[in-house]
Amino acid sequence: MENIKIAILGHGNVGGGTCEILSQNMQLISERIDKKILVSYILVSDTKKTRKWPTLGAKLTDNFEEILNSDVQIVVEVLGGIEPASSYMEDALKTGKHVVTANKAALAANYPILTKAAKDSGVSLLFEASVGGGIPALSAILGNLRGNRFSEVSGILNGTTNYILTKMGSEALAYDDVLKSAQELGFAEADPTADVEGIDAANKLSILMALCFDKYVHPDDIPRKGISHITLDDIKSAKSQGKKIKLLGTARLKDAIHLSQNAENAKLADKASEIEYFVEPVSIDDSHPLFNVDNEYNGILIRGNAVEDVMMYGKGAGPLPTGSAVVGDILKIAENL
Ligand code: HSE
Repeated sequence: MENIKIAILGHGNVGGGTCEILSQNMQLISERIDKKILVSYILVSDTKKTRKWPTLGAKLTDNFEEILNSDVQIVVEVLGGIEPASSYMEDALKTGKHVVTANKAALAANYPILTKAAKDSGVSLLFEASVGGGIPALSAILGNLRGNRFSEVSGILNGTTNYILTKMGSEALAYDDVLKSAQELGFAEADPTADVEGIDAANKLSILMALCFDKYVHPDDIPRKGISHITLDDIKSAKSQGKKIKLLGTARLKDAIHLSQNAENAKLADKASEIEYFVEPVSIDDSHPLFNVDNEYNGILIRGNAVEDVMMYGKGAGPLPTGSAVVGDILKIAENL
């Protein structure tokens, strides 16, 4: 059986979850693609540290050049943060290596550079795990929804904030306590400010816009409000009116009618061209399709002029759900090599 050699940059929550899935399901995976995934290297900052996740016999290295100069065919970037992740991905793509990433911050900040590097080198850059964790939303947008003209994409795009808002509402827990538990469960970013201030959701919205509207907007240019100012009283008050507060990321054609309204009116969207986009907490009632998307789950609603409304739902954060999307991308590339 042919070996496909890969390197994983990072062995934290997402890198670890990816290794765990490869470890648990290796035989099944090999049978499915008729190839064996061999993890040759894992890039870590401390090669001596005891590891919480499987290392699959890989060589642990703190030297990216060693990976760049090796014969690995796929580089899996799960370091998080914009740099050095973006430079590593660009170097790998320019060296003719395929890249899989879960790193929405790096991708959203450098989308034009990275996609150009992949195109110029004739290699794949896949990033399913960067939006919606384990939900195969990007594959759907780039796959069977591709013939649609989209008028709106809107969703709960951050698991940590949804988890915090849910637990504050259902268990009346204090904000700081729930945030701590989201960190322990591996949902939150290294610096959770990115979650609670809507930065992470803006990164994901930037990626969704690039795919749905062929329009790249740098995440810093997406107007955003986070949830750090929301109090237990705000949540209780929404609850007393039968509502929930959700952090939504939305991009839509300016003249399009909102998803919660009559789908017939989506035809108006064909006449619209300008896009409006924002991340903000919104109070929604049970008539809204995202009302029951709770805890670390994400929900992504898409309106296309042919398909009308599509809603995708699943775990948006956590080592295994996110690792699931990473492994899926690795296999897509491996199968075609
Ligand atoms: N911190 C992110 C979240 C991780 O909570 O959604 C998944 O992208």
